[in-house]
Amino acid sequence: MKSNKNFPSHVAIIMDGNGRWATRRKMSRLAGHRQGVEAIKRIIACAGDFDIKILTFFAFSTENWKRDKAEVDGIFDIVRSYLDGSLEELDKNNVKITVMGDITRLPQDLCRHINLALAKTQNNTGLIVNLAINYGARDEIVRAVNMLIDEGEQISADDISAKLYSKDLPDPDFIIRTSGEKRLSNFMLYQAAYSELYFTKVFWPSFGKRHLKRALKNYSRRERRYGGNHK
Ligand code: FPP
Repeated sequence: MKSNKNFPSHVAIIMDGNGRWATRRKMSRLAGHRQGVEAIKRIIACAGDFDIKILTFFAFSTENWKRDKAEVDGIFDIVRSYLDGSLEELDKNNVKITVMGDITRLPQDLCRHINLALAKTQNNTGLIVNLAINYGARDEIVRAVNMLIDEGEQISADDISAKLYSKDLPDPDFIIRTSGEKRLSNFMLYQAAYSELYFTKVFWPSFGKRHLKRALKNYSRRERRYGGNHK
């Protein structure tokens, strides 16, 4: 598959179905999120096989605060222990970690862990792992427009792009959502203008290399026209 040029460079993933995966196994929702981390690790490990340059993971949305406090705190613990346990190896593998979202609203200790990961990997030149945490696309756009108003500029589409959390990253070529839900749920609404979308019924904790391969094969058959004519 590596020789196929029609591969997405930036793949963004809405990791859905952790709760249902766990409930079906009579496990706690947090156990589902923990298995979700194993899926993240699997996908990071095989990204190079498919020439993927950027992986964005939607880890926590601005709307996820509505969940029980125990689940919210549990997700934060899971992110913290992932960074604790994997940062050295990610760094050794030349992975650069970036984030999208207002991390200043997260618990201080988690914010510190995230900042450490950003600083440690900032000069790495390999795979970019972009974590969307406390991220919401509408918030992101409103924030960008307010920054431009403060600067007193006439606003163009490029000006808005330049103020988004993802300003240093190209728009996602391919957005994958697991668990059968077919919507974007406030994820990268501005950047997704011409992204190809892919929905699979597989719950995120079960998602692995063969599912990614199937998704990428589907992507490779698509013709991206960005509003232009059919060839
Ligand atoms: C959606 O499934 C999943 C989330 C809201 C949280 C995802 C978070 C992780 C996998 C942990 C993040 C960790 C790192 C390292 C970034 P859901 O709970 O909405 O599932 P359901 O729709 O079946 O209830």
